[in-house]
Amino acid sequence: MERLQKVIAQSGISSRRKAEELIKSGRVFVNGKCVQELGTKVSKKDKIEVDGKILNKEKKVYYLLNKPRGVLTTTSDDKNRKTVKDLIECEERIYPVGRLDYDTTGVLLLTNDGEFANILMHPSHEIPKVYLAKIKGLITKESIHALKKGVFIGNSMVYPDRVKIKKQDVKTQTSFVEVTIHEGKNHEVKELFKAQGYDVIKLTREQYAFFTTSGLKSGEYRKLTPKEVSKVYSLK
Ligand code: URA
Repeated sequence: MERLQKVIAQSGISSRRKAEELIKSGRVFVNGKCVQELGTKVSKKDKIEVDGKILNKEKKVYYLLNKPRGVLTTTSDDKNRKTVKDLIECEERIYPVGRLDYDTTGVLLLTNDGEFANILMHPSHEIPKVYLAKIKGLITKESIHALKKGVFIGNSMVYPDRVKIKKQDVKTQTSFVEVTIHEGKNHEVKELFKAQGYDVIKLTREQYAFFTTSGLKSGEYRKLTPKEVSKVYSLK
């Protein structure tokens, strides 16, 4: 017997947290009965329906994409713009693990395994993400120091784990700064620099946990190895 929210997450339709919301809001039925109790346990024999659709226990798949610029990190778009899903040939209903902005490039994982996604995204696991930001202007040591001390974004503080100037170009008046963060707020890196008065011109996610784009050109993807998948499970 397994918890209902875990079974829903494992089926790939959502993260564990989203599954809890689905249950609480009365969108989940077990053997024809609406279940809103989070602790409910189910077995393989139980018929689970979410929004009227029978839960499909499909094969788990895992991809690593080197996301190019100008692609949305969603699975569909009402304006018919290109999404990351359009770049990957696969039958399963995969979705991105976290998100990158339309103009951000680099490491993006996609899966139909909600538990796997949850391990990487849950704030308590503090999974590091490394970004390389090209910013307008020559960033000062004082600004780097201020970033390291933490920046108020939205309604909470963000403390980067590491901030390092990689290169400064006096001629073009630009700087390249590597930032490691473990939170997952929207536009977090751009907001960090904005708080110090700098605009991000280009942003690349170089690393997510231990994943990098090594060997993948922009727009290319590969399947994760079983070893990589277990390594993520061991981060729990
Ligand atoms: N921070 C941002 O500002 N944008 C991204 O795409 C990712 C992190």
